[in-house]
Amino acid sequence: MELTYRPRRLRATPALRALVREHQLSATDFIYPLFVHEGASNEPIGAMPGAQRWSLEGLVDEVGRAWDLGIRCVVLFPKVADGLKSEDGAECCNDHGLIPRAIRRLKQVHPAMAIMTDVALDPYSCDGHDGIVDEHGVVLNDETVAMLCRQAVAQARAGADLIGPSDMMDGRVGAIREALDEEGFENVGIISYTAKYASAYYGPFREALDSAPRPAGGKPIPKDKATYQMDPANGREAITEALLDEQEGADILMVKPGLAYLDILHRLRSETELPIAAYNVSGEYAMVKAAAERGWIDERAITLETLLCFKRAGADLILTYHACDAAQWLRQG
Ligand code: PBG
Repeated sequence: MELTYRPRRLRATPALRALVREHQLSATDFIYPLFVHEGASNEPIGAMPGAQRWSLEGLVDEVGRAWDLGIRCVVLFPKVADGLKSEDGAECCNDHGLIPRAIRRLKQVHPAMAIMTDVALDPYSCDGHDGIVDEHGVVLNDETVAMLCRQAVAQARAGADLIGPSDMMDGRVGAIREALDEEGFENVGIISYTAKYASAYYGPFREALDSAPRPAGGKPIPKDKATYQMDPANGREAITEALLDEQEGADILMVKPGLAYLDILHRLRSETELPIAAYNVSGEYAMVKAAAERGWIDERAITLETLLCFKRAGADLILTYHACDAAQWLRQG
């Protein structure tokens, strides 16, 4: 054949492929999500093999391991005792609550590790919703935002570096920015869950925290989060959310879930100059673990491919439960 272009020329050897490779993965791309509980020992999570509900001291050790593997940011999620849950989730702003204590402890032992937090009421709400539910079953926006601002300030006071509102209430990024600034935390950043979809991929996470929406007392409780999280059918709406978050002062935008939403990541990349994060969520992790346990897929190869594809699609950062494994695999080359 007389071909002018033979794209295979640049695929011929590992050296040539490395030379023209467009994207690379590195441990510093990862944010490692960790669950913490009040217990004295670590507890495995059924649907997330390898993940644990860490005790405070278990958490300290795991963060040390992550640091040694090159990871520079973790995000913390609390498994709150039932007795501390309430309709308004007020435990979320307790300065001596689980998360503020965990942050303070981590900053004592690993002061250079960046700590991100999650801002939402679901782990603290007896209804399992990210916001306050009124007697008609409506998730209240503005009342919830006031509580989230107090939660964010408590986290910043404990030493958090990045505040991550995951609740999808309207106007919360701007309100949290203002609340942080008023308290003198103008250098604490906001990584906003900008395009967070009402997704079935969060199932294992809700098991880990025992935080799924559930009926409590006499009032009607919505069984899903569709009145605040986005409809998986919608793409353009993600751009509206991104532009609002940017105007309101977000420092980093996030797309969640990751894998089925790579088009959203790609679209946001062309709409903003801010860093973008992808959340490789619990259901995505559980699917890989389940298939790997059966020997149906190669966990290492599939995980590194998936994480790299997030970067190709436009992510600068990736939240992944595979962070330590991936960092280790990258090291082995
Ligand atoms: C809480 C929150 C959720 C996740 C992160 N923060 C669950 C939800 O919105 O129901 C999901 C993370 C995952 O599935 O890995 N607002």
